Amino acid sequence: MRMLLLGAMIGGLTAGSAWAAPRTYAVPDPTAQLRPPKADSLTPGYEAAQANCQTCHSLDYIATQPPGRGKAFWDAEVSKMIKAYHAPIEQADAGAIAAYLADTY
Ligand code: HEC
Repeated sequence: MRMLLLGAMIGGLTAGSAWAAPRTYAVPDPTAQLRPPKADSLTPGYEAAQANCQTCHSLDYIATQPPGRGKAFWDAEVSKMIKAYHAPIEQADAGAIAAYLADTY
């Protein structure tokens, strides 16, 4: 009786651990793209945005903002990503990104 119970418990454990097998999943490729910069001076901001603005969410977050919001809006937006959401973005990159976004969106 005792052996039977132990056997049932071990059986239960091994069956249970099958649920803990590692799972893999593939994240779909991003579909949104950043608009190309309008002037050469905006290229650094474009590249920095490319590198920093799609790690947490898609670029749709940028594209769906109302157009023509200007530099102050994008400065505040980038600074919110850094301060509120702890985006690891250098100060120099933050300024360049905001300039690129203000001119392009
Ligand atoms: C560390 C993660 C992270 C990074 C990196 C990041 N964001 Fe965000 N972003 C968020 C979160 C979190 C939200 C809010 C999501 C929500 O409310 O659904 C957000 C929302 C937004 C929004 C929607 C408007 C708003 O204020 O909620 C915009 C626009 C945006 N991000 C732009 C950017 C830009 C531009 C960059 C690059 C400079 C960037 N994000 C990088 C985390 C990040």
